Amino acid sequence: MQIQEAYDLVKDELQEVEAEYGKHLDSDVYLIRRVANYILTSGGKRFRPSLLLLSAKLCGYDGGLHIPLSAVIEFIHTATLLHDDVVDDADLRRGTASANAVWGNQASILVGDYLFSKAFYLMVESRNMEVLRVLSRATIKLAEGEILQLLKNSDIDTNEQEYLTVATNKTAALISAACQVSGILADVAHEKECALAGYGMNLGIAFQLMDDCLDYTSKNEDLGKAVGNDLKEGKVTMPLIYTLQRSSAEERERIVEAIEAGEINDNGHLESVIGLIRRHGAIEQTIDTARRHIETAKDHLAQFEPTVEKAALMAIADYVIERSF
Ligand code: IPE
Ligand code: IPE
Ligand code: MG
Ligand code: MG
Repeated sequence: MQIQEAYDLVKDELQEVEAEYGKHLDSDVYLIRRVANYILTSGGKRFRPSLLLLSAKLCGYDGGLHIPLSAVIEFIHTATLLHDDVVDDADLRRGTASANAVWGNQASILVGDYLFSKAFYLMVESRNMEVLRVLSRATIKLAEGEILQLLKNSDIDTNEQEYLTVATNKTAALISAACQVSGILADVAHEKECALAGYGMNLGIAFQLMDDCLDYTSKNEDLGKAVGNDLKEGKVTMPLIYTLQRSSAEERERIVEAIEAGEINDNGHLESVIGLIRRHGAIEQTIDTARRHIETAKDHLAQFEPTVEKAALMAIADYVIERSF
């Protein structure tokens, strides 16, 4: 199955989710509507809501809570993007100026907080304690991941395991929760709920690994984000970790220089590091690691009967490796 077919299976529900955003951004405070609408209408793959909706279909869920909860997941994701772009000093998001570039850091942080708070208000309305537990735990993990990443900033001794912990927390935890929540809603057996969580977790790790590759290999126009930002911000991601493992002392020194140059990264530092990454096959190695996680993600779906929804989740798994933005 192609990725578009997978999305098409939940096209109608996705439209309902889009309608939800507007309903909950009716604040009297003008800046909230302005900034939140700006980012929510700027595009975005809607990867997490699609996963929740497809998983809900896979589980035969016939209630109505999957729609507001998909909006909750996208609100949480959007809030983290608002904060993340401040932390990463990023001025391009979804192919357009990031909210912090337009309204400044303060507005981005505060509107991000508003979206987080709104998400919690909406999830309480589900009146499902298990859903609340899973989603609130995911947001704790998310914050831990971003903070751990901050602590590891510019640390070229960061190892593979430490990096995977960051990726698991900052990205995979929410993707996993999106899948697990649908299992909870549909009241499936414990093993199936765990399988959905495991699928999402491995998918999420692979998603972040590929994002880290794209940060080095893509173009701004394709990615919708500024390429090379990870190096500029001193983020030691998997392609760099694998490169460092294979680097000579002199090459290591070049990488340190590039990381330390930070903002003034225009002296060929990025090109030099990309050259090393390519020479040491670190992109291929990162893709291999991502691919292993994708295989594990798919294995988790063995718990489910072969249906069109299962095929869609399999297609989404493959898409994570192939995606170009
Ligand atoms: C960006 O997520 C943040 C990461 C986890 C890499 P997405 O790539 O899903 O962002 P949008 O929502 O499609 O813009
Ligand atoms: C993912 O990390 C951030 C979040 C989960 C919020 P990145 O910092 O790599 O995400 P992008 O590249 O800015 O989207
Ligand atoms: Mg970022
Ligand atoms: Mg990134």
